Amino acid sequence: MLASEFVLDPSYIMLNSMLLSSHPKTVREAITKFDSELDKSPGSFWLQNFREFDARNCQWAARYLGCSAEQICLVDSATVGLGLIYNGLLLDAGSEILVSDQEHYATLKSIEYASSHGEFSIRKMIWYDEPATVDKDRILSSLKAAISEKTRVIAITWVHSSTGVKLPVAEICHYIGDLNKTREQKILTVIDGVHALGVEDFHVNDLGCDLFVSSCHKWLFGPRGTGLIYLKPGVEAFLRPSIPTYNAYSYENWRARVEKVKVPLAHEMAPGGFQSFSHKWALYKAFEMHLEVGKKQIQDRTYGLAKYLKERLSKIPGIRLLTPISEKFSAALVVFDVEGVSPSLVVDYLAKYKILATVTPYFRQYVRFSPAVYNTQEELDIAVDHLCRGLDERFA
Ligand SMILES: Cc1ncc(COP(=O)(O)O)c(C=O)c1O
Repeated sequence: MLASEFVLDPSYIMLNSMLLSSHPKTVREAITKFDSELDKSPGSFWLQNFREFDARNCQWAARYLGCSAEQICLVDSATVGLGLIYNGLLLDAGSEILVSDQEHYATLKSIEYASSHGEFSIRKMIWYDEPATVDKDRILSSLKAAISEKTRVIAITWVHSSTGVKLPVAEICHYIGDLNKTREQKILTVIDGVHALGVEDFHVNDLGCDLFVSSCHKWLFGPRGTGLIYLKPGVEAFLRPSIPTYNAYSYENWRARVEKVKVPLAHEMAPGGFQSFSHKWALYKAFEMHLEVGKKQIQDRTYGLAKYLKERLSKIPGIRLLTPISEKFSAALVVFDVEGVSPSLVVDYLAKYKILATVTPYFRQYVRFSPAVYNTQEELDIAVDHLCRGLDERFA
């Protein structure tokens, strides 16, 4: 599915696409078009078009996510989005942010920097001990036990890039929503949806979260250097912008020294400055492509490949699958380890045969495959066969 859209090197089996996307044809062509116009007359092309092109991106993102364009803040990456959120939080002194042991470096570092101002402390929690057999009761009971009177924010990663576990985020956010009805101090939910956006068929309002952040240059196949934040109405009371935006109305308000036009916080928060506009403006093409193919079709195809891979891996002695087989608790990441062999040795061995996997960049490391829509079952078979051969040869 969609394979003809990409110009991937056919001599490789790409099972590392979760890092950075190859541009599909429609995105590539849009970037080239914007670049050639910018090269003819950069300043004037930008000036004549930036309002319309930024607005178009927000409209397509909103159409894809099922929310309003005013709730979309365009950023360069999930890392930038996470930094803006955690460093922009307005919390009372003595508040706590709850984070799990499975959060990505970008979340943990953003929270660490923000907490160094001394307004809040960080509380750690563990969602599960055994990823492969994780269940909803265990997750919800971990959450209930971890929340304290001081908890004001919970950092939740939807799909853990450490284990491949997908959390039941809607259940978690709805539980917090119910709890908030009984609390004076509300708890905000922040979802890192990096490995869900472009895979899961969902509408963001249905999740019940306050903030959702993702890059668009992974599973969505958006231009490299794009991402977004979704803001639920009401979150404005707890968040402030950190980087001046180049939103036209914000700039005009600043010059007029009065708020002539009310700018939604999501747009006020979008970092300004002159940027790689050809990439940014082409983002809408990725949303358009997913909606044309169908979110459900893309989800089913990606799930199907991951499931096939997990089922094959789970039957191989010496391989321990960390990612649950159930699609309720997993998406497209497939994480495993090989008994007694370092993950980097396995990844290097596969790379010799032009099979590209990754090592999870966390304190505990594992091998990770990330099949995407353009991979085929045949490619997965070749990867697994080489893994079996590696086991025989002790990956030498
Ligand atoms: C779970 C998770 N969150 C955040 C990020 C950061 O994404 P980006 O590189 O787009 O900033 C990553 C990167 O792979 C990730 O795996």
